[in-house]
Amino acid sequence: MAQINPSMLSADFSRLAEEARAVEGADWLHIDVMDNHFVPNLTLGLPVVESLSRATETPLDCHLMIEDPDRWAPAYVEAGAGSVTFHVEAAAAPVRLARDIRAKGAKASMALRPATPVEPYEDLLPELDMLLIMTVEPGFGGQAFLDIMLPKIRRARRIIDRHGLQLALQVDGGVSAATIERCAEAGADVFVAGSAVYGADDPAAAVRSLRAQAEK
Ligand code: DX5
Ligand code: ZN
Repeated sequence: MAQINPSMLSADFSRLAEEARAVEGADWLHIDVMDNHFVPNLTLGLPVVESLSRATETPLDCHLMIEDPDRWAPAYVEAGAGSVTFHVEAAAAPVRLARDIRAKGAKASMALRPATPVEPYEDLLPELDMLLIMTVEPGFGGQAFLDIMLPKIRRARRIIDRHGLQLALQVDGGVSAATIERCAEAGADVFVAGSAVYGADDPAAAVRSLRAQAEK
């Protein structure tokens, strides 16, 4: 079944708890953590994640777009994240990091920027619960979907299936009614959507309609 994870980057940051509750029924809330170093934007950190995890029943997946995730990721689990996604480009020791996250009781997920290929990480995939293929350069919401990532999604799907892994394949960036079917057809099964959900008049209805489209 397709999962839709609304990205709170496009929510009203002055009303985060309310905005989280506006999409109850979504599978996970996607929380974009940016440090102004790994990406040229700054969003939120541990105290906000801690408060938000108490304000909603929906589990949080923290997408860490930060330097030194090896140091910080376990703290996000302690702050209440049910899943932590780190960028392999920033991780010093991705296998150890994935094991640290799992040992703390959360799901471990690894993200690839558009220019990072999946093949060098094939042997690491059994250490993970989810692989995130970025379909925009990370840093901002509302960017155009990069069609050139579709072959990478297909290759990742083939690798996952060839190894018989129970690994979710997530896409993030420019996912909307106009692009979600192409992502699903290429093999993605978890879809992050920011502007397509929070830019809609009825965010909960947008989640339902994206899910229906992904499952077509
Ligand atoms: C971008 C973030 C995304 C962003 C997606 O760096 O990782 O999660 O919120 O926003 P949309 O869906 O608007 O492209
Ligand atoms: Zn994200």
